[in-house]
Amino acid sequence: MGFSEAQEELVLRSWKAMKKDTESIALKFFFRIFEIAPGAKQMFPFLRDAGDAPLENHPKLKTHAVAVFVMACESATQLRNTGDVKVREAALKRLGVTHVKVGVADAHFEVVKTALLDTIRDAVPDMWTPEMKAAWEEAYDQLAAAIKEEMKNAA
Ligand code: HEM
Repeated sequence: MGFSEAQEELVLRSWKAMKKDTESIALKFFFRIFEIAPGAKQMFPFLRDAGDAPLENHPKLKTHAVAVFVMACESATQLRNTGDVKVREAALKRLGVTHVKVGVADAHFEVVKTALLDTIRDAVPDMWTPEMKAAWEEAYDQLAAAIKEEMKNAA
């Protein structure tokens, strides 16, 4: 089943509503990831070395969170346009290499997916519907599949 214009609209509309608040949404997203999988913290070099310093002070935390949101949005648009996710090839290769290097496994992609969906649900409770959840899930799953494929090549 193709990705519809309505699904793309659901993803982009909710991201637009969240965008003005990226700082706190990025943090919530990360805290949710570490709540579900505390061990995932070890994979982020800048957190591993941080000791007891508060997570809020890490600009890189926000970078990764926003990257996941923005790339899932791009994935939605690409799915609607072409039925496939085409992150620029060079970018995708780098993502494959990076994620292999830090030890990301399939299960982590599931954790990040759950955390992403929980974060959106809590950020836009008035917009949240099963259709919106399904649209984000599909956009994320296809993006994750593209990254995982590239990780196989990089391993
Ligand atoms: C790095 C995106 C999933 C952990 C990065 C970078 C991007 C990115 C753009 C920056 C480095 C680069 O460009 O090579 C994504 C997207 C994901 C995803 C779009 C899902 C669709 C995950 C998962 C984990 C993870 C599941 C593990 C829980 C990391 C770590 C780094 C990284 C540890 C290196 C951070 C650093 O050294 O600063 N990711 N990522 N990512 N990602 Fe992800």
